[in-house]
Amino acid sequence: MNLLTVKGLSKHFPIRSDFISRISHRELFLKAVDRIDLNIRQGETLGLVGESGCGKSTTARLITRLIEPTEGEILLNDSDILSLKKRALKKLRKEVQIVFQDPYSSLNPRKTVYQILGRPLEVHGLTNNRREKRARVVQLLNMVGLGSEHVDRYPHEFSGGQRQRIAVARALSLEPRLIIADEPVSALDVSVQAQILNLLLELQNEFKLAYLFIAHDLSVIEHISDRVAVMYMGKIVEMGNTETIFDSPLHPYTRALHKAVPLPDPRAQRPHLTLKGEVTNPINLPPGCRLESRCPEKEKRCQAEEPILTQRGDGHHVACFNI
Ligand SMILES: Nc1ncnc2c1ncn2[C@@H]1O[C@H](COP(=O)(O)OP(=O)(O)OP(=O)(O)O)[C@@H](O)[C@H]1O
Ligand SMILES: [Mg+2]
Repeated sequence: MNLLTVKGLSKHFPIRSDFISRISHRELFLKAVDRIDLNIRQGETLGLVGESGCGKSTTARLITRLIEPTEGEILLNDSDILSLKKRALKKLRKEVQIVFQDPYSSLNPRKTVYQILGRPLEVHGLTNNRREKRARVVQLLNMVGLGSEHVDRYPHEFSGGQRQRIAVARALSLEPRLIIADEPVSALDVSVQAQILNLLLELQNEFKLAYLFIAHDLSVIEHISDRVAVMYMGKIVEMGNTETIFDSPLHPYTRALHKAVPLPDPRAQRPHLTLKGEVTNPINLPPGCRLESRCPEKEKRCQAEEPILTQRGDGHHVACFNI
């Protein structure tokens, strides 16, 4: 059964929304996420990959309800999380947690680890007294490979990798079923990246966690994902099992991502695509395929018609006419 089901989810940001543009119905929108469908089963990892600006973080923020969608449905265990009112939303917040890319800015520098990890426990009434709270904080630290000696320290006293461990511990504190990890290792040194990835895999095994794992680095995605969704300009263009996406990708964009050369600096590892041609303006989208202007395999139809995500094999979906 699906833990998370996303149907027709969109987020359109108004980019010029003054009075004149509104009354003349000429308001312009950036379609950051545009009618996407995806699902995540209990205990599995769906990798989400694509170039900078394609809508990955917006998707993450929509699923955690940090922002409201323009349209669409988000179901967690079949209940529609968009219709939840205050109390039910608080319960959802417990089940779906997020880990951000930058552990330097995601932890409050003025709070100790005890305060950072203890706060969610308090808010959700999970501890009855100080002793219990402290014991649970130490337990959470142990889960992520840190110890009781770290409880009263501040974030600046830790390395980047250790801080990300604290962020993971915070995400775990409410015993969620789904963790959205938005580029959780992109800001870390390569040597530390593997440690955090392995930690996430161990925790997944232990707690049957599901992950939506966002990254632009394909090797990271391959290492951690059971299935992969490839995003381009607000759309999922291909989705399938990790082996399928890596061994026999069908979409021209996925194939270009595979051929991309990583930049030498691992922290700035944005794929350098081999695709030629101009990137389509995301604000004034043409009626056809969004990749058309850059696609080496385009045909006439691609300019006029938008390909929809279609099943091409067992669990393999592709949005392209030319395959
Ligand atoms: N609050 C906002 N208001 C207006 N536009 C936004 C807002 N948030 C994101 N966008 C735009 O939406 C698009 C998608 O952004 P998003 O952050 O989801 O991309 P991303 O795939 O996470 O990129 P990156 O790999 O760089 O993190 C971008 O063009 C971005 O500028
Ligand atoms: Mg992002």
